[in-house]
Amino acid sequence: MRQFRRLLASPTCRILVVRGAGGTLVAEIVGLLRHFSIPSGRIYKVAVHPSAQGQGLGRRLIAAMEAEFRRAGMVAAVAEVRVSNTGSRALFEACGYQAGERLPRYYADGEDGVKYRKVLASRPS
Ligand SMILES: CC(C)(COP(=O)(O)OP(=O)(O)OC[C@H]1O[C@@H](n2cnc3c(N)ncnc32)[C@H](O)[C@@H]1OP(=O)(O)O)[C@@H](O)C(=O)NCCC(=O)NCCS
Repeated sequence: MRQFRRLLASPTCRILVVRGAGGTLVAEIVGLLRHFSIPSGRIYKVAVHPSAQGQGLGRRLIAAMEAEFRRAGMVAAVAEVRVSNTGSRALFEACGYQAGERLPRYYADGEDGVKYRKVLASRPS
């Protein structure tokens, strides 16, 4: 939790939200800019309220975060997903991400993760 708070306060963190009537939070995505030798944005979290799932919000948030990444010069996007999270895995695949290596015991409860990657178009000149 402390690590997540630190991440949210970082200047490399991007957060996009969808609000419903009365300002209630309906969906959110958290991304991180990583200025590596191959600059790549990491999608840290994407979540849609159960009452709003299946309406394309997850897809739209990922597209919007990819646009943020491109604006910041990122040339790739990555995400880690629990192997059991079939909905999230299907979402990333529907958005053009390719499943890569399995990450043994990636999560605190011992579950494996799967790495997803997508090449983003280069920055407009
Ligand atoms: C995963 C999650 C973000 C998807 O959001 P969503 O708004 O329901 O997804 P979308 O409606 O944009 O779906 C886009 C595509 O992803 C795929 N998809 C999304 N959820 C799916 C599911 N549960 N099962 C199968 N495919 C799914 C489909 O291909 C879908 O396209 P289609 O509607 O044309 O079939 C949402 O279910 C969620 O918040 N889950 C709980 C939190 C979570 O697990 N987050 C990911 C880890 S950080």
